[in-house]
Amino acid sequence: MSKFAIVGGHGNVSMRLARLLAAKQGNKVISIIRNADHAEEIANTGAEPLVLSIESDSKNKFANVFEGKNIVYFSAGAGGKGGPERTRKVDYEGALKVFDALELVKGDKPRLIMVSAIDVRDRNIVPAHYTEEDKVSSKTVYEKIGSYMQAKYEADKNLVQRTAFQWTILRPSGLTNDPGSGKATVGKGHLQHEISRDDVALTLALLAERPDAAGLGIDLVGGDENIEDGLDTFIKKVTRRSGNTIGRNARNRIMKKSNSMAMDDIDPIMHPSQSGSSDDGVMATIAQQMQASMEKKKREKEIKFLQATQAELSKTLSERAHEFSDGVAGIDKSFTNFQDAYAANEDHIRKLWDAILQEQLKLQVSIAPICRVAFVATTADREKKREQEHIRALAHGRKACEEFQRLIDSLDPNYERA
Ligand SMILES: NC(=O)c1ccc[n+]([C@@H]2O[C@H](COP(=O)([O-])OP(=O)(O)OC[C@H]3O[C@@H](n4cnc5c(N)ncnc54)[C@H](OP(=O)(O)O)[C@@H]3O)[C@@H](O)[C@H]2O)c1
Repeated sequence: MSKFAIVGGHGNVSMRLARLLAAKQGNKVISIIRNADHAEEIANTGAEPLVLSIESDSKNKFANVFEGKNIVYFSAGAGGKGGPERTRKVDYEGALKVFDALELVKGDKPRLIMVSAIDVRDRNIVPAHYTEEDKVSSKTVYEKIGSYMQAKYEADKNLVQRTAFQWTILRPSGLTNDPGSGKATVGKGHLQHEISRDDVALTLALLAERPDAAGLGIDLVGGDENIEDGLDTFIKKVTRRSGNTIGRNARNRIMKKSNSMAMDDIDPIMHPSQSGSSDDGVMATIAQQMQASMEKKKREKEIKFLQATQAELSKTLSERAHEFSDGVAGIDKSFTNFQDAYAANEDHIRKLWDAILQEQLKLQVSIAPICRVAFVATTADREKKREQEHIRALAHGRKACEEFQRLIDSLDPNYERA
């Protein structure tokens, strides 16, 4: 007896899955739907409907629902409705909300079985088993629904970093509504081989019984092998090494080492079907690929660092260039202002000189008569003084002559004046 929650409960795969799970005695299934109108349809599958939206409800609400469950399925999707923004909101952010909610669950946490899609990957790494036809199909899909593939890739990349709960990722090819055959190719397959939703639902139900599928990414495409057998073979193949199984702990150790790496680093572990490794060589292949990935990561880091440095340098240079040209413009402006002020002052000084000259001329004209009067007055004055001196000199002369006569008379009283 197990307890399940299905996120995206009204989906075409989820409804089929709910019927399969609920059909088993003792199982309890909660189908999470976003539209209450679908409740009756859900009840008809044998599941209990619960209305919650991964777009608008909190992770705590989901955590409450997940508590006490053994398995949580994520099979929701925007289905391309609402454009790339909604695809991101549902297929990426909605998925992360569910992962966060699982981490919040107290006590034993349920295992998550995530419905992803085939060929969701780092596009720089082409799986070794891809044929030319696969490559063409892949290109077409990415051209048509690239935002969906990217959202799924980022969600998966986020999920494989989580260690607080167990997870398994199922990666089906294009889905059809054909009746299920119970057959498929589990693991390495080709993209053109579609698979029916019935067969995907069956695989999801079978995975609930396979705790040893924790930590695996499993491709599922149309094929001829009994699904239950194919799943068993695949899980045993990728978890066995030289007769020993690579247990969850070993995988977790590798996962922990890989925690800082990108999805492409851990793809070989997540998706052993793509690794091209044999049972015996799986660990060696993983080690080689991890080393190659680490070197690639290192190179990417170096390139990122160089690009960041270059960007910072260009930013600084362009800021300084602006500052420099601002400074030069400032100096130019100041110099122009100085030239204008200098020219204005020159003009002013010239005008002052002109005014002084005018004033001088006016002064000369106005003092000329005064000068003339002063000159005449001075000449008359001098003439008068000279005349007075002359008279005084004559008076002295006369006095001297009289003195002289008196002297002669005193010396010779008989002297007769001529
Ligand atoms: N289509 C393919 O060829 C293909 C291939 C590989 C993988 N997948 C993946 O397989 C899964 C199942 O496919 P499908 O055909 O069953 O898809 P589906 O019929 O479109 O089901 C998706 C479900 O998600 C629900 N949903 C959408 N937004 C939601 C929200 N905010 N909160 C809760 N539920 C929300 C939808 O609810 P409503 O019913 O209310 O709209 C719908 O019931 C999806 O994850 C898909 O990405 C599909």
